[in-house]
Amino acid sequence: MQGDYKAGQQRIEWADNSMPVLASIRQEWAESRPLAGVRIGACLHVTTETANLMRTLVAGGAEVALCASNPLSTQDDVAAALREVYGVPTFARRGEDREAYYRNINLVLNTRPHLTMDDGADLVNTLHGDRRDLLQGVIGGTEETTTGVIRLRAMEEDGYLEYPIVAVNNALTKHMFDNRYGTGQSTIDGILRATNHLIAGSVFVVVGYGWCGRGVASRARGMGADVIVVEVDPLRALEAVMDGYRVMGMDQAAREGDIFLTVTGNLHAIRGHHFALMKDGAIVANAGHFNVEIDLAALGDMAEEHRQVREYVEEYRLPGGKRVFVLAEGRLVNLAAAEGHPAMVMDMSFANQALACKWLLEQKGALEKRVYDVPVQIDREIARRKLQSMGIAIDELTPEQEEYLRSYRQGT
Ligand code: ADE
Repeated sequence: MQGDYKAGQQRIEWADNSMPVLASIRQEWAESRPLAGVRIGACLHVTTETANLMRTLVAGGAEVALCASNPLSTQDDVAAALREVYGVPTFARRGEDREAYYRNINLVLNTRPHLTMDDGADLVNTLHGDRRDLLQGVIGGTEETTTGVIRLRAMEEDGYLEYPIVAVNNALTKHMFDNRYGTGQSTIDGILRATNHLIAGSVFVVVGYGWCGRGVASRARGMGADVIVVEVDPLRALEAVMDGYRVMGMDQAAREGDIFLTVTGNLHAIRGHHFALMKDGAIVANAGHFNVEIDLAALGDMAEEHRQVREYVEEYRLPGGKRVFVLAEGRLVNLAAAEGHPAMVMDMSFANQALACKWLLEQKGALEKRVYDVPVQIDREIARRKLQSMGIAIDELTPEQEEYLRSYRQGT
């Protein structure tokens, strides 16, 4: 179904109000045109915030084509506005099946991009698989998310990666804000829109205590939940303990939880025997990139009945009558049932994306086939502009303090 492009345009403009850093880059680039003549193939969640990134790349002179990085996250009105108003070829439709998803990735690749922009590395993977003929023309790429960076590092280690990619996720102005406060808020938003469940007084199990897990746990606690953290890494588990959460194994958490949220980036964090231990009415959702964290095949095998009971809510009835409710088919609940992260944090993530593209072009020929971090100067510049946009001035070191930091002779 074609989305309503006027509604999409209005929502894109609304998001732009909260994306001042990206807007400042767009304004500068309309003059300097650093991306003139560059073709960019992007595979991102098709949201209002992504639309503002596309507008920025176009203002910089790039020719951009866009497809979705998840079959359920596309906002059809935004896709329509991108096509009709902003002239960005956008190959995406909410609810597309796997075949359409990869067909759309291939349509973007058909534009023979010089730069790739990925969220989860599906575009890069397809390029390194069926479309190797296009690799020669690629200068570099960027990657938005933790899961994508993990895949790319594995490719690099295997000697399989064919061009340099900037791990936007690793910028501090990305993961400290987007992963933590963005995922924290938008995940709760998705769970609430899907269920209207009261968080206060609920036992809320967060599986995975990376930046996203930390964010979800803190927002759930802020709304009055009793938060349990499940984690396999001893350092992270210890951090969760000292952050004041109950920490335990999944077998015990499965018995206690009312709401379960996976953010591990790994396979089957919730498995068949865990469902068997859950209370009647348990709600299970995922905010990790891929829909592999909840073993839905096992749940399907165990269930006697399975039906949709509300938009984005599926009920699985187990032998004996116990029910487990799964949200958004185990896909990113924050993007499927809500609108993804607020523009305020995507502003910094996408400023990193834009400036990483410019940096890759400046470094053309000088980089290896590796995963690179965003240069620290870019990270700090984005933080500086963000503070400025918020009207917050901070102090500078005095010359005496700078000298002190450079010296090693002064002691007790
Ligand atoms: N990832 C998480 N939230 C997002 C958003 N609002 N737009 C694009 N990608 C996202």
